[in-house]
Amino acid sequence: MTIDFHAHILPRCDHGCHSSAMAHEQLKLIKNYGTRAVVATPHFYPNEDSIGSFLAGRDGALEAMKRKLPLEDLPTVYPAAEVLVCEGLHKMESLEKLAVAGTNVILLEMPIGRWSDLLLDTVLGVRKRGLEPVLAHIDRYDVEAVKELLEKGIKAQINADAFGFFKSGRVYLDLAREGRIVALGSDLHEAKIGTYRRFVYAKHKLGPLADEVFARSAALLKDAIPLSAAESLDVAIP
Ligand SMILES: [Fe+2]
Repeated sequence: MTIDFHAHILPRCDHGCHSSAMAHEQLKLIKNYGTRAVVATPHFYPNEDSIGSFLAGRDGALEAMKRKLPLEDLPTVYPAAEVLVCEGLHKMESLEKLAVAGTNVILLEMPIGRWSDLLLDTVLGVRKRGLEPVLAHIDRYDVEAVKELLEKGIKAQINADAFGFFKSGRVYLDLAREGRIVALGSDLHEAKIGTYRRFVYAKHKLGPLADEVFARSAALLKDAIPLSAAESLDVAIP
C-alpha cells in the first residue's frame, strides 16, 4: 500500500494549505495518483510556538476537515507534525503529543547547516525518551552527517525530490536497501500536480524497494489513529 509520510495538507495549520477546499483538492490529487494513506505533517517550530497552541490550531484544521470533506472517499489521513529540532528539544514537556496520533513515531526536521554534537544528542535524547524519531527529508542534508545518525539506528524519511529526473538517487537507493529509509514523502504544499508526479516517479525509481519502504511505514503506523476515527486528537503515546 502506498503511503505518503510527509505532506502539508491541514487547512490554515501551516503554509502548505490555505483552506478546506484546498485540502480537498490535495487529497483528491493524492488519491488519483494511487496513494492510500497520508501522514499530515504541519510544521512545528519550538522557538516560535508552544505545543498547546500548535495542537489547538491543528485540532481546528482537523475538525474543519471532518465537517467539510468526504473523508470516506479520500486517502486515510494520520495527524502528525514535522518538528524542527533545536538543542534541548528532547526535554520539552508534552513532546509526545507531536507524534503521529496513537503512536510514538515523531517526524523530526533537522536545521540546514552543520549539526552540532548537542543537536545530535538531542535526536538521541528524543529516542531515549521513548519516542521513535524519523528524520524528515534526509535528501536535504549532507549525506555523511545523516549517516552518522542512521548508524545509531535512527530511521529516515526521504522526499520524492531525491529521485528527480536529473538525480540518480543512488545513495538513497542503497539506504533503502539497507532498511534505513522507512518512509517516502511528497512534502506536498498546495495542490501542485508536479509535486505528486515526482512522488510517483520516485516510486518508479525505487522499484521493488518501494513496497519494502511502504511496508516499514505501515509497521510504524500500525496503531496510528486516522482522522476519521479520532474523537479527541489530544492523545499521548500509548
Ligand atoms: Fe515538510
